[in-house]
Amino acid sequence: MKREDLFDDLERRAELAGGEDRQRRQREAGKLTARERIDLLFDPGTFEEVDKFVTHRCGDFGMADQIVPGDGVVCGFGRVAGRVTYAFAQDFTVFGGSLSETNAAKIVKVMDLAVKMGAPVVGLNDSGGARIQEGVLSLAGYADIFLRNTLASGVVPQISAIMGPCAGGAVYSPAITDFVIMVRDTSYMFVTGPDVIRTVTHEEVSKEELGGAVTHNERSGVAHFAVDNDQQCLELTRELLSFLPGNNVDDPPRIDSVDPPDGAGERLDTLVPAEPNQPYDMLDVIHGIVDDGYLLQVHAHYARNIVVGFARLGGRSVGIVANQPAHLAGTLDIDASVKGARFVRFCDAFNIPLVTFEDVPGFLPGTVQEFGGIIRHGAKLLFAFAEATVPKITVITRKAYGGAYCVMSSKHIRTDINFAWPSAEIAVMGAEGAVNILYKREIAAAPDPEAARVARIAEYREKFANPYVAAQRGFIDEVIMPRDTRVRLITALAALETKRDRNPPKKHGNIPL
Ligand code: HXC
Repeated sequence: MKREDLFDDLERRAELAGGEDRQRRQREAGKLTARERIDLLFDPGTFEEVDKFVTHRCGDFGMADQIVPGDGVVCGFGRVAGRVTYAFAQDFTVFGGSLSETNAAKIVKVMDLAVKMGAPVVGLNDSGGARIQEGVLSLAGYADIFLRNTLASGVVPQISAIMGPCAGGAVYSPAITDFVIMVRDTSYMFVTGPDVIRTVTHEEVSKEELGGAVTHNERSGVAHFAVDNDQQCLELTRELLSFLPGNNVDDPPRIDSVDPPDGAGERLDTLVPAEPNQPYDMLDVIHGIVDDGYLLQVHAHYARNIVVGFARLGGRSVGIVANQPAHLAGTLDIDASVKGARFVRFCDAFNIPLVTFEDVPGFLPGTVQEFGGIIRHGAKLLFAFAEATVPKITVITRKAYGGAYCVMSSKHIRTDINFAWPSAEIAVMGAEGAVNILYKREIAAAPDPEAARVARIAEYREKFANPYVAAQRGFIDEVIMPRDTRVRLITALAALETKRDRNPPKKHGNIPL
């Protein structure tokens, strides 16, 4: 074959991948092809493919006549909103997107390039796992990727989109990355599938129930986002990247905000109910404060008693962490602690300031929580806030009780600016609980125990259920009106832009995992 013809032939075969039939089946399954996905991820015309002509080396296994240039993964780099990003897209039409030695080497190459250039890595996963014909060579490929995921963690952002099967040990690459996005109905993740489970534990479970997008977004917390289709998945990936820096020494991108800093916040003044046990939606608080009222929630369906996500204030990216009184009264439980801790650590690794909104009555009581290890899981959130050196600002909207007061980015764990609304209640515990402990005997002996109890509760609330004792000590820098919160946060963030803080030199801390 002439040289030009050889080139054309390779190009054609690489583009055709597993062939028209398999591409049709891919579309019929509701999925885009690997190349279509890459086209939607990157700004038009910016994708540069690498290793397009790489082929597998497993001719020994009767595959010598099944050679597809590219070997089932499209790798390269391009621009997302103008910024360089690296990506790989597994091609299910080629041996089920399975991971071969050479296919792994291609993924490793783009990961290494991404780390060297300080650019994010996006993995579009759609694979039957280890290429069975290659045995340990494929397993070695996975391990090479896991190592890269680990070394890149905290250096460049890593996003995994699950857009088809992702099973067995293959799940551990996405699990190490920073964010996992799953497409409803077409993607699933599990370590062992329904058949193995039936054999070993005699449980009957469908693929979807075991490892679909709903399961991993609502129950396991493995996934951070659920989307309806491939297009939404790639759109969301682009949006997520817009909040993040390219690497751990860059600042997050800043945009020109058209939302005025002193936008009307009067309705915030009446948002917190006067009655302390009355719930309200913390999302209303956040939406009333951040630019354009927009929050990109992370883990929106998991541990809904804490809200985490990205927003902008005066055009700057911020990580929002907020107790949610509308769920479990905003208590911290195991799942909420782990969710919060992971998000705080991500923001800290990537220079994204943390803004915390606090209304927490404490840790969730009960044997389920204690037996499940709320002590060590709650400690994760404390550890994460305490070690974070990015700018940290806290706003106490209502309750800040007990250990949870310390944990939720209190002044004592190096938070730079601590605000409280006049409705804040900062105390060891709520009035009812405190009075029952302190005045148990007095109340029992009183001629009218209920009247005595009510009087003591009123006295306690007068004394402790306010922000002023903390403000007298400097634990709260300022009591601010809710309506002023937006402008105060924007001003504070600008002032904290030059923050320099360091932890003592060490190999790494030992967060209670
Ligand atoms: C080689 C594979 C393959 C694999 C699928 N194919 N998985 N080829 N290695 N792991 C091929 C099929 O032979 C088929 O080829 C094509 O991909 C599409 O597969 P289908 O089975 O027709 O598709 P579908 O019905 O949609 O089912 C998809 C699937 C199933 C559920 C993923 O293919 C499957 O169960 N595959 C095996 C999964 C598995 O056990 N993998 C190993 C897991 S262990 P043709 O030519 O017919 O189109 C693992 C260890 C990782 O991954 C360890 C890391 C440390």
